[in-house]
Amino acid sequence: MTLKEQILTMLQQTDGYVSGQQMCELLGVSRAAVWKAVQALRGEGLEIDSATNRGYRLQSAGTGLSRARILAALGQHPWRETLQLVPEVGSTNTELKTQAAAGAPAGTVLIAEKQTGGRGRLGRQFASPPGIGLYLSVVLRPTARPTELSHLTALVAVATCDAIEAACGIRPQIKWTNDLVLGKKKLVGILTELALEAESGSVQYAVAGIGINCNHQPSDFPPDVAQMATSILQETGRTVDRSRLAAELIRALARMDAELLSGKQAWLARYEHDCITIGQDVKIVRGDEIRFAHAIGLDEDAGLRVRYLDDGSEGVVFSGEVSVRGMYGYV
Ligand code: BTN
Repeated sequence: MTLKEQILTMLQQTDGYVSGQQMCELLGVSRAAVWKAVQALRGEGLEIDSATNRGYRLQSAGTGLSRARILAALGQHPWRETLQLVPEVGSTNTELKTQAAAGAPAGTVLIAEKQTGGRGRLGRQFASPPGIGLYLSVVLRPTARPTELSHLTALVAVATCDAIEAACGIRPQIKWTNDLVLGKKKLVGILTELALEAESGSVQYAVAGIGINCNHQPSDFPPDVAQMATSILQETGRTVDRSRLAAELIRALARMDAELLSGKQAWLARYEHDCITIGQDVKIVRGDEIRFAHAIGLDEDAGLRVRYLDDGSEGVVFSGEVSVRGMYGYV
């Protein structure tokens, strides 16, 4: 733990003031070092009061992103040492793919306050304004072939539902395959990418990227998505503590990673439970082909099992665009 993190922990564990002298003695540092660390925490948005002869007191931890606060909320966790928080990046997924190719270990997490080139599925952009969202990617290194990881995105979706529920008290639903929705509007986008080892064909690494609309007002979304998008603030009326949410997301992703292969069935059962698409009529667009179907369930790899309305035949959909009636402007 850095000095800043140790001081934050002491302040969080105390209701009133902690004296500067006490901090110096317990942490074995000078008064100047304590003051510098307190200033750095203030710079991250924490409101720390200081009073002569009394010391320091945490007034408000704020709701912004701060590495110290994420780590304090995370506690002892195997992924804490490699956590990175940066003010700005093109895309957290792109940056982590570079780091993973250079050897970054599983569990390396990158969070950006702002993305200038946030990427979505099918080459789309993912708007990532500063101060209101959570844009987080993680490196995973499962020992598996790509065909054994078809369910990865689905499990990331369930882990993200778990994190939002733990931090914000509301559980989103999943629109197959990888959008989380609240009130039929998009709340979270997920982009998972795999890199293969040329010789063996096995997975070298995966990067899972999650973008959560936390404290957005309707005017914060680009005009073309404003009608279809929502935020946790809009749905609950409460400002999201993004550091707490980040910590819950890291925890949930680590649990998912540990059970990615061994716990697949149980996680997919949870996905099926949260999935709003199942039981609905859907429109499936693949290239120029459009077909209408009824979504009847999931197969063992998280493919969507459907019954086509035109001829009653059944099939499994793995890719393409699946629109659910009544959502995202599809009526
Ligand atoms: C989608 O909705 O199509 C997926 C959006 C995924 C956005 C996240 S934000 C963090 C990570 N970095 C990116 O560039 N994309 C993902």
